[in-house]
Amino acid sequence: MRLILLAAPGAGKGTQAEKLSEHFGIPTISTGAILRHNIQEGTELGKIAKQYIDGGNLIPDDVMIQVMKDRLSQEDCKKGFILDGFPRTLTQAEALDASGIAIDAVLNLEVEDEAIVQRLSGRLECKECASTFHKEYRKPKVQGVCDNCGGELTTRADDKPETIKSRLSVYHTQTEPLLKHYVEKGILKSVKGQDAIEDTTKAVLAALED
Ligand code: AP5
Repeated sequence: MRLILLAAPGAGKGTQAEKLSEHFGIPTISTGAILRHNIQEGTELGKIAKQYIDGGNLIPDDVMIQVMKDRLSQEDCKKGFILDGFPRTLTQAEALDASGIAIDAVLNLEVEDEAIVQRLSGRLECKECASTFHKEYRKPKVQGVCDNCGGELTTRADDKPETIKSRLSVYHTQTEPLLKHYVEKGILKSVKGQDAIEDTTKAVLAALED
């Protein structure tokens, strides 16, 4: 299974990727997680990424395409993968097409902007393993502590109200047009992402196994 999750920020890509990765036994490649790790480590890529992420903007295509080329050539991607956050522009999608890697399905999670703002405003992320929780919709067992590794839960720097607004705007102008690209290829599957997490997982699996 080679799957792309294509949806707005906060639509639940990371949450569903975690479930799908377990279900199919394949890794999730999250561009956001790769970039945040590099920012934390203070690498050259991290320094470039920070200025774009802080403003809710996209990292330049040439940088992202090279990052993904390197990541997808690694051994753990040989039996399949879930792409969370790539491609995000038509140039990135065309680069992926040109790489010759055949994608089985592109999953679109449909969620209204209003619900997205609520989700991102209440999101909590583990500083250690990047697992995601929510103050209301997916509470950790112990407040402020990650269920998976015991790490400290924190709010992501780009989940501020003004940055959420610009991320949504960037999604609608630069990423949403990709839906048409994948409709034309006949591999787009759209699922309502507005329901509870478990119900959405069921709908996603049904769509993928259809
Ligand atoms: P990235 O980390 O990819 O962020 P994003 O796309 O904005 O997506 P999010 O991680 O915010 O949301 P999600 O859809 O994964 O939702 P989640 O499952 O966490 O990218 C960050 C930045 O990096 C970008 O802005 C850009 O600058 C840069 N970047 C990354 N890739 C790039 C690329 N290819 N090109 C250029 N730049 C790039 O869920 C959100 C919250 O809602 C959680 O709290 C969760 O618990 C909750 N939740 C999830 N599902 C439900 C549900 N069904 N009901 C209720 N609550 C739910």
